[in-house]
Parts: sequence; structure tokens; C-alpha cells
Amino acid sequence: MYSWISLLAIALSLSDALAQSLPATNLFTPLSKPCPRGFSLVRKASNPDGDTFKPPTRLNADETAYVSARAERVLPSAWSAYLNNVQSTKVPLPKYVSDILSGSHHSNDLPRFSIASSGGGYRAAIFGAGVLNALDGRNLSSKSAGTGGLLQSATYLTGNSGGSWLVTSFAQANFPPIPNLVFGSNPTSTAAQNSFGGWNAQFDVMQPSSDPAVDAAYIKTLLQEVAGKAAAGFPVTVNDVWARALARHFINGTSGVDFFSNTSAHGAGILFSQLTGVPSLANHQAPLPIVVADSKSSRQNDSAILPGGNFIPDSNVIYEFSPYEMGSYDPSLSAFIPMKNLGSRNSSVCVTNFDQASFVIGTSSDIFNEFNSSLPALLQSSIGPLISLINATFPPTPGTELDATMYPNPFRNVGKRFIDSDQDFLRLVDGGEDGEVIPIQPLLVKPRGVDVILAIDASADLDDNFTAGGSLVAAQARASLFPGVYSFPPVPTSINTFVSQRLSSRPTFFGCDINDPRSDSPAPLIIYLANGAPPPGQPALTNTSSFQLSYAAPQLQSMLDQTFAIATEGIVNGTTGEKDQAWPACLACAVVDRSRERSNVRRSGVCKDCFARYCWNGIE
Ligand SMILES: *[C@@H]1O[C@H](CO)[C@@H](O)[C@H](O)[C@H]1NC(C)=O
Ligand SMILES: *[C@@H]1O[C@H](CO)[C@@H](O)[C@H](O)[C@H]1NC(C)=O
Ligand SMILES: *[C@@H]1O[C@H](CO)[C@@H](O)[C@H](O)[C@H]1NC(C)=O
Ligand SMILES: *[C@@H]1O[C@H](CO)[C@@H](O)[C@H](O)[C@H]1NC(C)=O
Ligand SMILES: *[C@@H]1O[C@H](CO)[C@@H](O)[C@H](O)[C@H]1NC(C)=O
Ligand SMILES: *[C@@H]1O[C@H](CO)[C@@H](O)[C@H](O)[C@H]1NC(C)=O
Ligand SMILES: *[C@@H]1O[C@H](CO)[C@@H](O)[C@H](O)[C@H]1NC(C)=O
Ligand SMILES: *[C@@H]1O[C@H](CO)[C@@H](O)[C@H](O)[C@H]1NC(C)=O
Ligand SMILES: *[C@@H]1O[C@H](CO)[C@@H](O)[C@H](O)[C@H]1NC(C)=O
Ligand SMILES: *[C@@H]1O[C@H](CO)[C@@H](O)[C@H](O)[C@H]1NC(C)=O
Repeated sequence: MYSWISLLAIALSLSDALAQSLPATNLFTPLSKPCPRGFSLVRKASNPDGDTFKPPTRLNADETAYVSARAERVLPSAWSAYLNNVQSTKVPLPKYVSDILSGSHHSNDLPRFSIASSGGGYRAAIFGAGVLNALDGRNLSSKSAGTGGLLQSATYLTGNSGGSWLVTSFAQANFPPIPNLVFGSNPTSTAAQNSFGGWNAQFDVMQPSSDPAVDAAYIKTLLQEVAGKAAAGFPVTVNDVWARALARHFINGTSGVDFFSNTSAHGAGILFSQLTGVPSLANHQAPLPIVVADSKSSRQNDSAILPGGNFIPDSNVIYEFSPYEMGSYDPSLSAFIPMKNLGSRNSSVCVTNFDQASFVIGTSSDIFNEFNSSLPALLQSSIGPLISLINATFPPTPGTELDATMYPNPFRNVGKRFIDSDQDFLRLVDGGEDGEVIPIQPLLVKPRGVDVILAIDASADLDDNFTAGGSLVAAQARASLFPGVYSFPPVPTSINTFVSQRLSSRPTFFGCDINDPRSDSPAPLIIYLANGAPPPGQPALTNTSSFQLSYAAPQLQSMLDQTFAIATEGIVNGTTGEKDQAWPACLACAVVDRSRERSNVRRSGVCKDCFARYCWNGIE
């Protein structure tokens, strides 16, 4: 579990401290104003339809515009550049692969490709960063490995929990090269509010110094920074404090040299809705980021919680946050509000400044309810002192759950099938608590038309903190609750199959056989790239604990290097430890496979061999 200092001593001088405000205090405070005339807060994504589930029909108009502008102006050249990199590996590709990727195929049907990066704390952020680096066409090693360019060709980039730290930091920093993202491009200078200083991973998220007095002052600073939000009448919970700590790692405005500065705003006021203005997104040069969170509800069906340590039933609503809006396509809700108006309840009073980027990634990684099996257990856990401190500092109004993230509920009375229809607040928690630790859900929304998902999995299914497909098992179980709404390809129903067939210690394709009777067509093809084992013969470096919240640069670099090897090796020849020279070609075969299918071409050449080797055979 996270380790936290004993905080009670802080409370002594706290009332004095709260009287003064820090640069972040106002910037973190939500503002309430009358809404413009004729404003309507909630967008319904499907027509209300009584008691029956109705599939969503409408995407957000700004999202549609973004995706089509990107598809027209950016993706054709991005796919051609990727194709050149694959071809440089000298493995001959079937003509249909190069035709599809170069846009010279008669159907002109480019793949709709997306990437999902899992939770698993800092470990997952690092593993995801290592994979994105291997897919980044700007990196010469990735180009010559034949995997570079896929990142530039993606339409969506989703992140959950530790993966949301990666995706959001990457997007708000304007998609710098991964080494600059992780280590900062200029580590010895201070970071202004409009520049990114790197992840500062050498500082632990909640105990950044080795001096208890400094750590206590640090926590006090975080509390001061959220005091304005509390004074404005919004509930303050552990996530607000957590968000302010995460901001120093994943949001502009903090570098290693000004980490403890009290004169910096440390990224307060940088909003998730402002991501649309970052140059790479304004120019459609980058995939659209989406972050997920689960909801906890007093009326949830606890007997639907999957075995295996998950905390939230699959049937609960999963929320998604894009720079445009927040809500869910789950059929019981199927409604959204504008991201910039997060915190609003109705169309009369419009709240802004609530959608702090740090608060969104804090929500996605809010696992604090996992400590709350009972009040005594919570108070005795490592976060007990912080819970008590917040409880004493910002006395909660009835109904506040300090362990969850409280969102004023904009969806009251939206429909009788919505589980939180009569609640004043939504209570959101880590997006992996239902077991779907890879943020696949947004990519199954049919109008998004995603063909291929590269699913990066660095969760920790096994005792040694490597993973074994549990997230795909959960995603399949969840999709089956909404037949006709979400389609998912057949994957094993148990992690035992992943372990016995070694499906997570090598890349595996799912959904290769669209004639499989279990296949709910048109399901996307899934390229599963898991943190399941180190490369053969190497020491295990990438399976650190999810609760390790600081990394010295050499350890972080060695994890990135090993992840690069994992992402570029394919199925290694067990006897020689030799990487698969055809892996980049196989990846390209998978990426184009749904486009191939639509144009009625048969798999041939190296693609046939690739699918024989990389596809799950469908047998448990
Ligand atoms: C490219 O990736 C390699 C492998 O992880 C890394 O060592 C190198 O620093 C990267 N180069 C750039 C310019 O990002
Ligand atoms: C964050 O800083 C980068 C430069 O490091 C800049 O390009 C980007 O626009 C900034 N993002 C925001 C949201 O201000
Ligand atoms: C920041 O503020 C805290 C709380 O007021 C104080 O204890 C600490 O010394 C300050 N740190 C710096 C570097 O000024
Ligand atoms: C709750 O979940 C269990 C297990 O999935 C299911 O059998 C039961 O029907 C559900 N109850 C309700 C009220 O949906
Ligand atoms: C709208 O929400 C605000 C809080 O944001 C509340 O004060 C107000 O009473 C609500 N108005 C209506 C008409 O419900
Ligand atoms: C919060 O404080 C109140 C009043 O002091 C107390 O009754 C309650 O148990 C506390 N709750 C927690 C979670 O510490
Ligand atoms: C612990 O969980 C219960 C049940 O969800 C909730 O009512 C309570 O508010 C939680 N306690 C805290 C301190 O968050
Ligand atoms: C990493 O994996 C190795 C091999 O299974 C194991 O010995 C080691 O304990 C694991 N490390 C952690 C931190 O789980
Ligand atoms: C795996 O991580 C957990 C914490 O998530 C830790 O308690 C455990 O020791 C780790 N396993 C090994 C083998 O180190
Ligand atoms: C694996 O290596 C052995 C020994 O060099 C070789 O005989 C065999 O053909 C290789 N297998 C594959 C699938 O490359």
C-alpha cells in the first residue's frame, strides 16, 4: 500500500496556514456564474428509449470534426511514413498491406487504429511510455526497428490510472519525445506554468523528501492549495490533495529545481478542456486523449463484483473524459456534459475551472476506497492520517465520501435506468477497479469505428507483479453485459489460459477469426502487448510494485530500455533468445487486417505466417 507519513502533527499549525493562500489556491478554485442564455448542459448521446437499452448513435460534434480533419489531413502521410519504416526491415509485405497503408488501395480504407495504456501506478506509466517510444516515428531507433510511426497514426490514445498520468502529461506537454517527457528537456532550470519539467519521478508522490519535517510542510502546502475549493462550497476529498501532488509530476509548471517552491502554481489552473489548445491537438497532429474512471454507487450490485480482488461491479457506469466532454456511452446513461463545465449541476449555474487536469488524472487513479472495508480499517491504513486530517480541516457535508472523488451530479433525473439519477454527487474512483485496467471501453463505442486496438497492459495480475490478461478477461465480461452496444473479440475467460499459453509474455492478437461463432462482429482486432515477462535471459526490471511512487533516473531509464526491447522483439526464439525479425511486418499485418477484410482480400505471404504465430487459437 502507499506509505504516508504520520500527518497529525501538521494539524497543529494548520489553521494559521490556511489563512494564507498560495499561487495555486485561487487557480484551483472552481468558479460559478450564470450560464449563457439558451445553454443546455447535458448532451444525450442516444434517444431516450424507455426501459430498453438503445445503442448510442451520436458522438460529440467537435470530436467528429477532430477525427475527420485528422483522417483527411494528417493520417495519410502518417501511415505512409509508418509503412516506410516497416519496409526498411526488408521483410517482404503482401501487396495489400502496402496498398492499404499507402492509400493506393482502390477502397482507400485506412485502418482506424487506437492505443490504450493501462493502470498500475508509476510502473504502468513507465511501461506505457516505453511502448509509446517504440511506436514513435520521431525516434530513430524506433524507425529502424520498424515499429516507429504507429503512434503518429493513432486516432485515439486512452489512459487509465497510471496510464492516465502518461497520456495526460504527454498531451498537455504537447507530445514531446518520450525521453523529454519523462526526464524533462532542461532538468536544471525552473519550469514556468507553460513549460513541462518532466515527471520528477525522483520525488515520491506523497513523501517527496527524506526529511519528515519537509514532507509535513509539503502536505500542508497541498492542503492550502485546495482550501479555496473547499471555501467555494465544493467537497474536498483525498483526491484533491492527491491531484495537487500529481500535478507536480504530470502537469506543466514544476521541475526538479522548483519542486518545493511556494511561489509556483505547480500547474493549478491547467484544465483538461484546455488540451484542445495545445499546438499538436489544435493542428490535428496527435491522437485524441481520453481518460477513464469508474463510479461507485450506493445502489450498485455488489454480487456482480468479479472475483479476483476487484472493487466495483462491471455493471457500474464507466465515465470517460475527453478534452471536449465527460460522461458515458453506457446505455443506462448515454449522456455527456462539456468538459469545461465539469462541476456544474444544471443549465442555470455554469461552473468552470473544476476540470483541473491534475484532478482528472487523480480521479482516474483514486484507489483510496480500496482501503475502506470499514471505517476502522480505513483509519488504520496508511491513508488513515490523511483522511483524518482532511476530515478535521474541511469538515465534510453529509454524503461526502472522503475516499472517492466527488463530482456535482449533472445527470440528475436524466433517466430512470441511470443508477445515480437521484444522487447529488457522482462518486468516481480509479478506472481499473472493475477489473478493466486497460482503458478499452471508450474504444468499443461503435460510432468511433475503431478497427484495431493496441492494448498496453502493465497491471499486476500475478504475485510477482507481472500481468496475465486479467484486464482482457474483465473487458470481455463487461462487453457481454451490453450485447449489441459494445463488441469485443473472444479472449480467454481466465488468466490461467494466459499463463499456460504464455499469451502475456509475448505479443498476442485477438479477434483474428471473424467467423468464430463467439465473435460479436464487427469487433476490433486487439494487439495485446503485455508486461508479462522480461526479455529471455534478462533480469526482471519492469515488474516493480504498483505502490512504488518514486524512481531514480537510472532505474527509470533501465525500465524504459527493457520495455523498448519487449515492444520490438515479438515472439522470441526460446532456444536462442533471438527476436522475431518479422515482428514489425506482423504488427503491420494486424494493423491493416480489418481494412483487408472489408475489401475482401485474403491474407497472404508473411501475414499468413504471422497470424498463425501471433493469434490466440481460441482454445482455453
Ligand atoms: C529513442 O529510443 C531509445 C530507446 O528507448 C532511447 O534510448 C533514445 O534516447 C531515444 N531517442 C530519442 C531522440 O528520443
Ligand atoms: C505545457 O508546456 C509545453 C511546453 O513544454 C507547451 O507546449 C504546452 O502548450 C503547455 N501546455 C499547456 C496546457 O499550457
Ligand atoms: C512552503 O510553505 C510551507 C507551509 O507554509 C512552509 O512550511 C515551507 O517552508 C515553505 N517552503 C518553502 C521552500 O518556502
Ligand atoms: C446482481 O448480480 C448478480 C451476479 O451477476 C446477478 O445474478 C443479479 O441478477 C444481479 N442483480 C440485479 C438486481 O441486477
Ligand atoms: C443549479 O445548480 C446550482 C449549483 O451549481 C444551484 O445553486 C442552483 O440552485 C441550481 N439551480 C437550479 C434551478 O436547480
Ligand atoms: C470526521 O469527524 C467527525 C467529527 O469530528 C467524526 O464524527 C467522524 O467520525 C470523522 N470521520 C472520519 C472519516 O474521520
Ligand atoms: C467508506 O465507504 C462507505 C461505503 O461506501 C462510505 O459511506 C464512507 O463515506 C466511506 N468513508 C470515507 C471516510 O470515505
Ligand atoms: C519481478 O519478477 C521476478 C521474477 O518473477 C521476481 O523474482 C521479483 O520478485 C519480481 N519483483 C517484484 C517487485 O515483484
Ligand atoms: C508486488 O507488489 C506488491 C505490492 O503491490 C508487493 O507487496 C509485493 O511484494 C510485490 N511482489 C514481489 C514478489 O515483490
Ligand atoms: C530457433 O533457433 C534454433 C537454433 O538456432 C533454430 O534451429 C530454429 O530454427 C529457430 N526457430 C525459429 C522459429 O526461428
